[in-house]
Amino acid sequence: MAIVTGGANGLGRGAAERLAQSGARVWISDIDPRVEEIAAEIGAVGRLSDASNAAHVDDLFAECLAEAGTIDIVVANAGMGGGAPVVDLSDELYRRIMAVNLDSVFFTCRAAARTMLAQGSGSIVTVSSVFGRDAPAGSSAYGASKAGVIAITQSLAKELAPSGIRVNCISPGHMATELYWSALRRRAAASGRSFEETTEDERTQVKLGRFGTPEDFGELVAFLASDAASYITGQTVNLDGGLQMG
Ligand SMILES: NC(=O)c1ccc[n+]([C@@H]2O[C@H](COP(=O)([O-])OP(=O)(O)OC[C@H]3O[C@@H](n4cnc5c(N)ncnc54)[C@H](O)[C@@H]3O)[C@@H](O)[C@H]2O)c1
Repeated sequence: MAIVTGGANGLGRGAAERLAQSGARVWISDIDPRVEEIAAEIGAVGRLSDASNAAHVDDLFAECLAEAGTIDIVVANAGMGGGAPVVDLSDELYRRIMAVNLDSVFFTCRAAARTMLAQGSGSIVTVSSVFGRDAPAGSSAYGASKAGVIAITQSLAKELAPSGIRVNCISPGHMATELYWSALRRRAAASGRSFEETTEDERTQVKLGRFGTPEDFGELVAFLASDAASYITGQTVNLDGGLQMG
């Protein structure tokens, strides 16, 4: 059984589809009210569940475990974009970004680790961002939350390695999802340039010359979660078309 948080749209949906195609039973959790019908479209089960709420996460894992017996793969993917220059960032937006991007990963990893330690196996994939290693202006909260995801991954990987449970992190770059299009719209508005010009600027920063896709993400999740990656743990892998090489 696999759980993908934030799996109703974007990258999470790509991961859920890819895992389902490889034969895994998949549960998707999301705050999108359409989660059950979206999950059904890809042969998965959908649950309305807020990953930034510890009780929601624990209930989700308990229900899934009762139904499936084991939880073998967990993808802590739920997240949000947004931000502002530090001098303009409200307490409310700062707290929300940290809750949705960082608390959610901690709660999901904790529930996954408890389950996997009890069953003696499993693989966890967390989702950071290239901004977790190099945050641009206007991304202090987002970058801090994503740097925190890398730290959780490293610490948990060390805790779980003696039990053979692996924990790895994916750092996406510019990926073609709603989260990224919204960020581009904000950047275009702030610079006074058109959306098209801003998009083209960002595309040309990517060495491979294109934005990443949910399918690219699904492939890397499937690899990291599989036995093909059985000697890989504690790593943060950029999925960014060469955007960040140094
Ligand atoms: N798209 C990019 O360019 C990019 C780059 C770097 C990192 N990421 C990260 O990848 C992950 C997925 O992003 P995406 O681009 O697919 O975004 P998206 O907005 O397309 O999809 C995010 C999904 O998460 C869900 N979600 C949001 N808050 C939630 C919560 N509290 N509980 C449960 N579900 C919640 C949304 O409803 C949505 O279905 C995020 O963690 C994001 O920070 C994305």
